[in-house]
Amino acid sequence: MKFLIKNGRVIDPANKVDDIRNIFVADGLIADSDNIDTSDKGVEIIDASGFIVAPGFIDMHVHLREPGQEYKEDITTGSWAAAAGGFTAICCMPNTDPVVDNHVVASFIKERARKSALVKVWPVGAITKQLAGEELSEIAGLVSAGCVAVSDDGNPVKKANMMRNGLEYAKMFDLPVLSHCEEEDLSSGGLMHEGLYSFIYGLKGIPAAAEAIMVGRDISLARLTGGRLHICHISAAESVELVRRAKEEGLPVTCEVTPHHLALSDKIIGSYNGNTKVNPPLRGQEHIDALIAAVSDGTIDCIATDHAPHHIESKDCEFQTASFGISGLETAVAVCMDMVNRNILELNRVIEMFTSKPAGILRIKGGVFDIGAPADITVIDLKLKKTVDVSTFYSKGKNSPFHGQELTGWPVLTMVDGKIAAQNGKIII
Ligand code: DOR
Ligand code: ZN
Repeated sequence: MKFLIKNGRVIDPANKVDDIRNIFVADGLIADSDNIDTSDKGVEIIDASGFIVAPGFIDMHVHLREPGQEYKEDITTGSWAAAAGGFTAICCMPNTDPVVDNHVVASFIKERARKSALVKVWPVGAITKQLAGEELSEIAGLVSAGCVAVSDDGNPVKKANMMRNGLEYAKMFDLPVLSHCEEEDLSSGGLMHEGLYSFIYGLKGIPAAAEAIMVGRDISLARLTGGRLHICHISAAESVELVRRAKEEGLPVTCEVTPHHLALSDKIIGSYNGNTKVNPPLRGQEHIDALIAAVSDGTIDCIATDHAPHHIESKDCEFQTASFGISGLETAVAVCMDMVNRNILELNRVIEMFTSKPAGILRIKGGVFDIGAPADITVIDLKLKKTVDVSTFYSKGKNSPFHGQELTGWPVLTMVDGKIAAQNGKIII
């Protein structure tokens, strides 16, 4: 199958391109558009006038819940949600049951994804066995089974020496260590960000320092080991400042932010809606301002959803007992594009954060429109207005705090390896 994606505004940050151009796709790859024979009947023309055409978006932080918690999500439905949401590749976190701490579980995920996923699925292996923080997992086996990173996400690695060993070991394979930074002595029992609103709403708070302390520790360990540290879902101003200084020092440190931490503040928790409960928690405005500044100056490398689907029963309950997590794959692009339309975020930076930046951290192909690269493409209509409606989600997780919100700027086409995976928010199987 051949496609000519015509007259779109092609934004390819890795090649410093932002121009009206055509993109030609042949045999699953980006091809040279100078040599196209448009009279060839086999070439399907897609008119992208007025749309943005970008390399396929990559979400490096997703919970697919399979194996073990398929009632929340599975690899197939998660991949459908990804395609509908404009993503062509996702990384899945290892906090499944069983945990992805050995090559057998990692191979199972790869195989399931090969058979039934609509987008590329890259497994992340656990740093420690059972995510228990006591013993390193079989990292060599995880790498040979196709894991592109290691993480105990959902849990911090409590013991500094264990984190040190994880960084040392991962370094031998040039793997990034994705760190969930949380000092549990401080965060334990907390339900939301500690600040004025936790006081007003009468809910136990999680101080920003619970994150920043661990970010500081892990940066010290990256300095000690030379291992590649990537901070997951950064949410606090102090954490961002620590990453900024680590980068100035030249340390191998990167980080990601979620759309919800950029777009929503702790004030909305006054609704006591379980769908606003997430870890790390939605923070106060001073933290959001720091995150936005760090997106703009490049301190924050990527945007990742931390897509955390949950069953309705663990969300539609008292705030105290609700699970932490937000179903993010089907709103992430629109939430960010809406912020672009409101001049809070800059378009080319956002696209870089969804494409070449995660590809570079994970050392995976993609995120760029080079001739011969896989034809993974995300097309966006920056003017399209739609209201988020969780009943239309492909994800089994309907736990979105954005439900009912009108957003401007949505993905309209997702192409994976030269095949259309979704169009206008609907998957194509
Ligand atoms: O809110 C969250 N949900 N934060 C995490 O770190 C884990 C995730 C989950 O797995 O549900
Ligand atoms: Zn996570």
